[in-house]
Amino acid sequence: MFEITRHPVADAVRQRAHLDNDAYLRLYQQSVEQPDTFWAEQAKAFLSWFKPWDQVHSSDLKQGRAEWFKGGQLNVAYNCIDRHLQQRGEQVAIIWEGDNPAESAHITYNKLHHNVSRLANVLKRRGVKKGDRVCIYMPMVPEAAYAMLACARIGAVHSVVFGGFSPDALRDRILDADCRTVITADEGVRGGKYIPLKSNVDKALQSCPNVSTVVVVERTQGDVAWVEGRDLWYHQALKEVEADCPAEPMDAEDPLFILYTSGSTGKPKGVLHTTGGYLLGAAMTHKYVFDYHEGDIYWCTADVGWVTGHSYIVYGPLANAATTLMFEGVPNYPDASRFWQVIDKHQVNTFYTAPTALRALMREGEAPVKSTSRSSLRLLGTVGEPINPEAWEWYFHVVGDMRCPIVDTWWQTETGSILITPLPGATDLKPGSATRPFFGVQPVLLDEQGKEIDGPGSGVLAIKASWPSQIRSVYGDHQRMIDTYFKPYPGYYFTGDGARRDEDGYYWITGRVDDVINVSGHRIGTAEVESALVLHDAVAEAAVVGYPHDVKGQGIYAYVTLMNGQEPSDELKKDLLALVGKEIGSFAKPELIQWAPGLPKTRSGKIMRRILRKIACNELENMGDTSTLADPSVVDSLIDQRLNR
Ligand code: WT7
Repeated sequence: MFEITRHPVADAVRQRAHLDNDAYLRLYQQSVEQPDTFWAEQAKAFLSWFKPWDQVHSSDLKQGRAEWFKGGQLNVAYNCIDRHLQQRGEQVAIIWEGDNPAESAHITYNKLHHNVSRLANVLKRRGVKKGDRVCIYMPMVPEAAYAMLACARIGAVHSVVFGGFSPDALRDRILDADCRTVITADEGVRGGKYIPLKSNVDKALQSCPNVSTVVVVERTQGDVAWVEGRDLWYHQALKEVEADCPAEPMDAEDPLFILYTSGSTGKPKGVLHTTGGYLLGAAMTHKYVFDYHEGDIYWCTADVGWVTGHSYIVYGPLANAATTLMFEGVPNYPDASRFWQVIDKHQVNTFYTAPTALRALMREGEAPVKSTSRSSLRLLGTVGEPINPEAWEWYFHVVGDMRCPIVDTWWQTETGSILITPLPGATDLKPGSATRPFFGVQPVLLDEQGKEIDGPGSGVLAIKASWPSQIRSVYGDHQRMIDTYFKPYPGYYFTGDGARRDEDGYYWITGRVDDVINVSGHRIGTAEVESALVLHDAVAEAAVVGYPHDVKGQGIYAYVTLMNGQEPSDELKKDLLALVGKEIGSFAKPELIQWAPGLPKTRSGKIMRRILRKIACNELENMGDTSTLADPSVVDSLIDQRLNR
């Protein structure tokens, strides 16, 4: 085991920070003891309202119901753009760094306002109204942020679909939310490669008859097919509309966006977030977790296709009038020094990335880091999966030169904003721990009976009171939200994660307790991969589990049983991988496929994943009780043939 060293808050960090430990403790106490007073103050301090709310908050977690700032009116685009114009119109809102190191752009708040307003008018002209859903399938270009904000400006609900998803996955998401409008680009560019986004949209739309508008941003000028009447070029359409577009007053509880995420069962869920509470959560955490000060250059390396990109590239930073950097490329292109070069080029102060990227870069040694200065850096952050202490220390010593605190931020698509995290000026750090709850967040650990565990211990992580940016619904299936998050432990929000609490009250997230796999920070449901595999004619059955992977955190291990008469082959393996790529996207392809003549099942036919997980993890001692298996001998043959040794 790696020894955990405690890193106390450095004096220089504390002196500059908004909050020290006393302030944290005092505010935290107020936030849970007098939540309405606390949140009313924050909502006034962080957001501009057209109309004040009638009630700060009302919720019932047993029913999964939460309402924040009901009756209050505001607009997210107004809060992220318009209100900053008078004082900061010429300040840079977005620094765009292209995949090609020679390409970058600076977009001021004035320019952001101009583009968002015009795009909003384009949408209006095409008949998009308040409440309508708009799908955004974009590469990492500023127009992706314009598209999100243009929707918010007119009250349309965006559904951003990550550009790595396949046409089939895109189609499913467009249909589920009944999007009638799609905003995309001709092609995306990542690591020198071109991604045919418009062509993917064309394929998806073959089965989406309701889509009547496709707005296409010109990124590469690559060849694209064109459907007259349906497709329009972004740059041309913008010229044909007025520059002025008033921001639609929205109720605090009106929907802002849908974002699909994977769970343990069934198809992906369209997590629905609303306007006031979500924006407050994003803005407030952005300021305090990243200790944001005016003039800071802030960079979150996520993709806007994931919630991290929503809350910490677009909404949180822009609500705070920050300068947010948007990176089109990948960490290792043109070489493994790219992140650090970008930090020097744009004088980045705050850098927020995923453990998987750090582990991949760690393998390249220190030279690509040490060839850069990084002297502008003040704060580092991680998100998406547990960070192993080795990677944490490397980040701290090699990247941050022992000068920059690291905030390990735990949260989820469903939570909307960061819930468990250090605050740089307040929290002594322990590598691998997300440390303590943010304001208003009441985490608990539950035992197998669903009882709260006191003091140090391990259990299932749940949250016992509503917070402003909490999930409001699963689009089109409200009952599914209740069943998934609020039924398992009545009165609590169930996170799906396991955690340990230590003697200092710090939380250590141990990973998912359900059938969700976290591959390089991408959340993948085992059921989705299994459904893809069994689509193949040769496949009778498939079971998918996660196993520890040095770089990706977890890898996907698939057990595949073939139909009688079918022979395993490398060819067939390739076909199966291609099928997963087609159904979901390349990022969901299994690392390992084991041919399994039989799967361990109970007498009632339920697959015993616990056993499959042990074999995939190469943990052969302690297989647990196999006596309830219909045929215990399958276990030995699976162990003999296992692939991860
Ligand atoms: C799952 C949520 C919202 C961030 C991006 C991922 C895991 C997230 C941490 C962390 C350990 C983490 C959890 C969680 N996770 N952050 N700091 N330490 N685990 O969002 O796709 O909704 O995935 O990511 O397992 O449940 P997501």
